[in-house]
Amino acid sequence: MGWILLLVSLALLVVLVYWQLIIAEGTYLGSRAVALLYDWAAPTYERIKQFDPAYEQWFLGLPLAQALEPIPAPLVLDVGTGTGRLPRALLFQPRFRGRVVGLDISRRMLAQAARLTRPHAGRVTLIWQDARTLPFLDAAFDAVTCLEVLEFTTDPTGVLRELVRVLRPGGVLLVSNRVGPDAPLLPGRAFPRLVFETLLASLPLEEVQVRSWQVDYDLAWAVKAGVPQGGGVRPLPEILRCPACGHNPLPMRAGAYRCAECGQAYPVAEDGVIEMIGR
Ligand SMILES: C[S@@+](CC[C@H](N)C(=O)[O-])C[C@H]1O[C@@H](n2cnc3c(N)ncnc32)[C@H](O)[C@@H]1O
Repeated sequence: MGWILLLVSLALLVVLVYWQLIIAEGTYLGSRAVALLYDWAAPTYERIKQFDPAYEQWFLGLPLAQALEPIPAPLVLDVGTGTGRLPRALLFQPRFRGRVVGLDISRRMLAQAARLTRPHAGRVTLIWQDARTLPFLDAAFDAVTCLEVLEFTTDPTGVLRELVRVLRPGGVLLVSNRVGPDAPLLPGRAFPRLVFETLLASLPLEEVQVRSWQVDYDLAWAVKAGVPQGGGVRPLPEILRCPACGHNPLPMRAGAYRCAECGQAYPVAEDGVIEMIGR
């Protein structure tokens, strides 16, 4: 009897660990756990995902470049950029003449992104920061993208609000929501399709379209409501907002972006990544 109980307990423990670490990728253990797991997976991420360059161009790079065509040099933010999948797909498009800022909570994923986007150096900026507090002014970007990320954040609704906050009126939002067989195992992280549509409808968005994308995701395209204003690349110090105190701008001096209000400095590492976490 004792043996059976022990075996059942062990089996339950294995299932629990598999769910928390493999399916949920640490999201219920907190954002540090997520960062740690992605740090660990970073060197093998591209090999595991096996992105097909033609698919990436056809379903991401091309439609986004087309949507941004009216703006001569658009500024795009990719939240949870990982190894730089979206920046690479977009910057490969000859008709895209803008810049991309990629933000992620995993420093080692960003190190991979820095390596893989090297051919586009000068047009990509990478920032180590949590998506729950985006370090930018309101309405700073012409497009905001967030692919395969929401379900691994500890506050997907809050992150969604942040994505929309930093998008300018008339700007394009591209965000994925986990569906498929594992989605019910991610309560409070992945949204049933109708709930996701209702959530998007509660935000200042229009022309919302949610389509099936890849095996496990829906992809939402939307435009931020309001009178289109501004647009185009702006100098980074002008749009950066201190994550510690909210002050803007953050001028660059002696290898770091510096907050004149709280004195916090955000250094630029050797691989070009701006390090904001833990400061
Ligand atoms: C499945 S990967 C997707 C990466 C990339 N968007 C892609 O499509 O290949 C999820 C990424 O989200 C990042 N992430 C998870 N939680 C985050 C958070 N709170 N803030 C910023 N990035 C986060 C992870 O570090 C990881 O790089």
